[in-house]
This record gives sequence, C-alpha cells and structure tokens, in this order.
Amino acid sequence: MSYHAIAIDGPAGAGKSTIAKLLAKKLNYTYIDTGAMYRATTYKALNLGVDLIDPESFSFLNITDFVFKNGELYMDGTNMTKLNRSKEVADNVSLVASHIPVRNKLVSLQQEIAENNHVVMDGRDIGTVVLTHAQLKVFLTASVKVRAKRRYEELKNAGRIITLEDIEKDIERRDKYDSTRSYNPLRKAQDAIEIDTSDKDIREVVDLLYKKYIKIVNEGEL
Ligand code: CDP
Ligand code: CDP
Repeated sequence: MSYHAIAIDGPAGAGKSTIAKLLAKKLNYTYIDTGAMYRATTYKALNLGVDLIDPESFSFLNITDFVFKNGELYMDGTNMTKLNRSKEVADNVSLVASHIPVRNKLVSLQQEIAENNHVVMDGRDIGTVVLTHAQLKVFLTASVKVRAKRRYEELKNAGRIITLEDIEKDIERRDKYDSTRSYNPLRKAQDAIEIDTSDKDIREVVDLLYKKYIKIVNEGEL
C-alpha cells in the first residue's frame, strides 16, 4: 500500500508543530517532528564532547536509535522532549543541522518512517527534500515579533525565565542560518500553499488545512 503525507515547513514559532500535531490527530496520522531529531543529535554531540564544527563528528548517528511515540521523540530509549529545549541545544542546533552527513542520515530516517505510515511531518525541508511527493505541502509564516511573543508565552508558562529580546535574537539568528545554508535550506516548495498565521488562531489554520486535504482526497487526486 502507498502511504499519504502532509509536509509542513516554515521558520521557528510559525506554529508548525502545534498545527501539525492537531491535524495528525484529526486524520489519525502519525505526527513526526523532524526538528526534534536535529535537536537530539545536537544534545548527543554536546554530551559526547565532539567537535560541532566538523561534519565528520557525527558518525555516532549510525548507532543512534530514534523512535517516535505519541508524537514525542525517544533517542536511545530516552524521551527527548524536555532535554531538547535547553539553551545549549538551541544555540548549536542550526550549526549541526547545516552538516551534509547529518542531514543525509536524518532525511533517510524520516523517509523510512513515511514509507511505513501516513504522516504529518514538520520541519524546514520536508516539502522540498524529504517528502517531495507529499499530497499536501504547507509553508507557515508569521512576523518575527509575533513568533517571538508566542515562544515567550510558551516558555513563561513552562516556568522558564528568558527575555523577549533574547528569544527574538535566537529566532532571527536561526532563521538566517537555516535559510542561507547551502545544503537543503529552509525554503517554500513551489507547490506549497503559504499561510501567514500572524492573525490566525490555531483552530482556524487546522480547519483550513483539514478541509483542503479532504478536498484533495475526495477529488481523487490521491
Ligand atoms: O521549534 P522550532 O521551530 O524552534 O525549531 P525546530 O523545529 O525544533 O528545529 C530546530 C532547528 O533544527 C532549526 O532551527 C533548524 O536549524 C533545524 N531543522 C532543520 O534544519 N531541518 C528540519 N527539517 C527541522 C529542523
Ligand atoms: O513548531 P513551530 O516552532 O513552528 O511553532 P509552535 O511551537 O507550533 O508554536 C509556537 C507557539 O505559538 C505555541 O505556543 C503555539 O500554541 C502558538 N501559536 C499561536 O498562538 N497561534 C498560531 N496560529 C500558531 C501557534
């Protein structure tokens, strides 16, 4: 049987994971957060103390186990949800994600998951590289101010003390790094629909995408 895929890309804080998760739930599809895999790789590299600048430092990925359970990533049996959100990981993840061997390895793991499950997958290169065949491709955006404010509220609610200014700086730095790297940069796929979520609430976007996807299914485009 062939499996269906929805690809959701965009910059940090655009609403990708929240929207992808809800859409996956509505469709009973598997939600895959590819950012979590890049973050977990960074976490492991930091723990091992390898040289993060050297693309050859990441051969440990060949003996690293990634499993998604209920939308959460487990690396070598450990739930990475909290560990992935440290400042040290955020500061280094875009550098790690720029290395060709890292991207090739994680992309092939992501493609393997999509060969065996109906997926809603979010990231930076899902529509352009990982799932070029996806039945629906979405590119979510929002202004930097709105995205930083959302992250700020999210972290504040989780008890984290961080200034809005620091969040804005982190978002701008990662956006720049992710969209200017030479290999598989953050980019809208030509056939993706673009939605600016700045003034939209989450439900509104999920409903819009759900209807759009069901229409594609009903029109027999699948
Ligand atoms: O949640 P947030 O949008 O802040 O980031 P994330 O989705 O957890 O991704 C963290 C970082 O991983 C991004 O800033 C990119 O550097 C990298 N990433 C990537 O290069 N390609 C992907 N498909 C997903 C994430
Ligand atoms: O995955 P990504 O970094 O693109 O963003 P997210 O983690 O899904 O969303 C960041 C925060 O913005 C979350 O707390 C969402 O609940 C919130 N959000 C929102 O308030 N309105 C939207 N339209 C989208 C996201």
